Amino acid sequence: MSAIVTKNLSKIYREVGKASVKSLDGLDLTIEENEVYGFLGRNGAGKTTTIKILCSLLKPTSGEAFVFGESVRTPQARQHIGYLPEQPYFYEYLTPKETLDFYGKLRNLSPAERNHQWDKLSELLDLRDIADQRIKGFSKGMRQRIGFAVALMGDPPLLILDEPMSGLDPIGRRMIRDLIMRCRDEKKTLFFSSHVMSDVEQICDRVSILVKGKLTHRGRIDQLLESQTKAVEIITAGLSDETRRTLRERATDYRALDEQDIFVLPDEAAANEAVQQLQQQGGRIVQFTPIRESLEDFFLRQQTPTNEEAR
Ligand SMILES: Nc1ncnc2c1ncn2[C@@H]1O[C@H](COP(=O)(O)OP(=O)(O)OP(=O)(O)O)[C@@H](O)[C@H]1O
Ligand SMILES: [Mg+2]
Repeated sequence: MSAIVTKNLSKIYREVGKASVKSLDGLDLTIEENEVYGFLGRNGAGKTTTIKILCSLLKPTSGEAFVFGESVRTPQARQHIGYLPEQPYFYEYLTPKETLDFYGKLRNLSPAERNHQWDKLSELLDLRDIADQRIKGFSKGMRQRIGFAVALMGDPPLLILDEPMSGLDPIGRRMIRDLIMRCRDEKKTLFFSSHVMSDVEQICDRVSILVKGKLTHRGRIDQLLESQTKAVEIITAGLSDETRRTLRERATDYRALDEQDIFVLPDEAAANEAVQQLQQQGGRIVQFTPIRESLEDFFLRQQTPTNEEAR
């Protein structure tokens, strides 16, 4: 069974005295169990809107959403979800321990279960030292750890995380990344939005890209990037002037470094031809590196005005 399914989900925000905003336009998504799924899009693309609909904090204007086969409007669906909001809100005068206890009660956990959860989560999220301090005054990183612990309270099988890494320093980001991987190893499903492309590239199985409320791309990251032209960098040594000259004509970029000549060829076919010619003429290949487009390059390219207009 799929962990999340949305069918033709749309959301129009209507405010009195203002033009209505179509924030989500016919979104179809399927996230399988035990996937780590990245939900990408610029500011205002509709990520939080989607996430709020999944968590039943917002009603869609049309369309439906299901979590493990149950409509997100049912209380049962909510029980499957651990949610980390974009800006976690806490009662500032409670301590982390009291906060987790409070959310444990909301999940109908017994006192013994709540204690057990606290022991586990405070260890996992490194909350022991701050267990009894008031949240007021805590840093972004500390708050995010508490938010993550709240999401994990009661061990839900599906985690929906809205920008879990934003605003964190590299150590905080690494911690969240490790937690996500750990949850995946525990067979949970993770659906999260993010702007931090390098993190997404490292941890996601599949991604969707949302542009102005519409899905423009979806799939495995390697397959999304594979369809793009790959340049190839060849580092060579021992070239004659003549070989260097002919290879430079074909290269899109060239530089000389110490005794080596470095060429960038536009694609694999051009690179292979260059290698053959070079070997026939007595040159050496030191390194042959296909240059894969990063997810960030790909993402940025999808956001250009021409692309959006072409939709
Ligand atoms: N309560 C609201 N009333 C009116 N418009 C809204 C409301 N909430 C969101 N919007 C609009 O809907 C669009 C999508 O917003 P949303 O918060 O879902 O984007 P997002 O992808 O999460 O962006 P970000 O990366 O900045 O968090 C934006 O144009 C936003 O201005
Ligand atoms: Mg958002």
